[in-house]
Amino acid sequence: MQNMLVTGGCGFIGANFIRYVLEKTDYRGKIINVDSLTYAGKPLSLSDLEKNSSRYHFVKADIRNKKSIGDILNEFKIDTVCHFAAESHVDRSIVNPDDFVQTNIIGTYNLLELARERKDRIQLLHHVSTDEVFGSLGKTGFFVEETPYQPNSPYSASKASSDHLVRAYNHTYGLPVTISNCSNNYGPYQFPEKLIPLVILNALEGKPIPVYGDGTNVRDWLYVEDHCAAIWMIMNSGKSGETYNVGGRNEMKNIDVVNMICDLVDELAQPLETGSSRQNLIAFVKDRPGHDRRYAIDCSKLERELSWLPEESFETGLKKTVEWYLKNTDWTDNIRGGDYQKWIKQQYGDNS
Ligand code: NAD
Ligand code: DAU
Repeated sequence: MQNMLVTGGCGFIGANFIRYVLEKTDYRGKIINVDSLTYAGKPLSLSDLEKNSSRYHFVKADIRNKKSIGDILNEFKIDTVCHFAAESHVDRSIVNPDDFVQTNIIGTYNLLELARERKDRIQLLHHVSTDEVFGSLGKTGFFVEETPYQPNSPYSASKASSDHLVRAYNHTYGLPVTISNCSNNYGPYQFPEKLIPLVILNALEGKPIPVYGDGTNVRDWLYVEDHCAAIWMIMNSGKSGETYNVGGRNEMKNIDVVNMICDLVDELAQPLETGSSRQNLIAFVKDRPGHDRRYAIDCSKLERELSWLPEESFETGLKKTVEWYLKNTDWTDNIRGGDYQKWIKQQYGDNS
């Protein structure tokens, strides 16, 4: 690996991955980050690398445009692809599925075709996917790699479709690929439409904290850098054609996550003017249509075969995350304009 293409590197996990690889691994090659800069793509998340690292290069490009990505693969002699670029928010996929089909399915298909055309040079295409492809669990059980796909939202259906295409390109054309299916990530640089950063910012500002339904849906949370480490291990030591589940073994009810954040913000930030605990800001709102009940990942394959283990517990990771959002007001101020306010009003109403 010398010239790695990262797609969607200005998003949450992609930006953390680029930092992780350049700053914490022995990789000595270059990273070319292609991102079309949707509402979720923030070059600010990597502006220090853009200034200071000769091994990092950003190109604004859209994976829906096959020709422009093909030109980039040629120009930078790309030998490895790590594919994050996607529309990633379930609620937006319910409002407008079209972008999800175009980017997540057609965009991935374009990358696969381009890699197939350059099979002599491309050593690996790693596809970053989600546990949501498996659908929803009841009170017990875990998703394993063999769990049949049963995606429930337009987002998860588009990711499932892209996973199938990636697998098929390996099976049919022998394209070297790996796939990871990960649970919910949290950490620095996450766009505050997602539960954890949304709750942190609303708690800080004393705004209502929207909890869908009765708050008892369960998610399995993983600190983003632990996900990045898993992806890097899979890319370096995983078997071509295989999929790997990644998860934190950390199931939590949404309401318990929200209460923990409220308590942390009370502890680490200025008290509210009213003197009231932030837990009093919690507002139960209309449920997400088709809301998956429970996700829980069995990641024993990754632990057994690649000796991966997460470093952060939920307590340490969540504290780091709240501290990061309190400290990085340049980033949060930059995010809060334009599209963010529009989305929040559309989703949660005028008082949000
Ligand atoms: P994100 O929404 O924060 O970032 C997505 C990035 O992709 C943005 O920078 C955006 O500008 C870019 N992008 C979107 N459409 C594009 C296009 N057509 N061409 C080029 N760039 C485009 O998403 P994220 O949370 O960082 O997720 C990254 C990947 O990880 C996604 O594939 C997602 O399905 C997967 N994933 C996310 C989680 C999670 O908890 N966030 C968990 C498991 C898997
Ligand atoms: O499981 C992996 C997936 O996790 C990724 O593939 C997705 O890209 C990522 O967005 C995430 O999907 P979720 O829908 O689980 O994440 P979100 O942060 O949107 O919601 C987490 C839970 O919190 C979910 O049960 C819905 C609930 N929720 C969410 C929001 C935004 C609320 O109760 N209130 C909210 O305002």
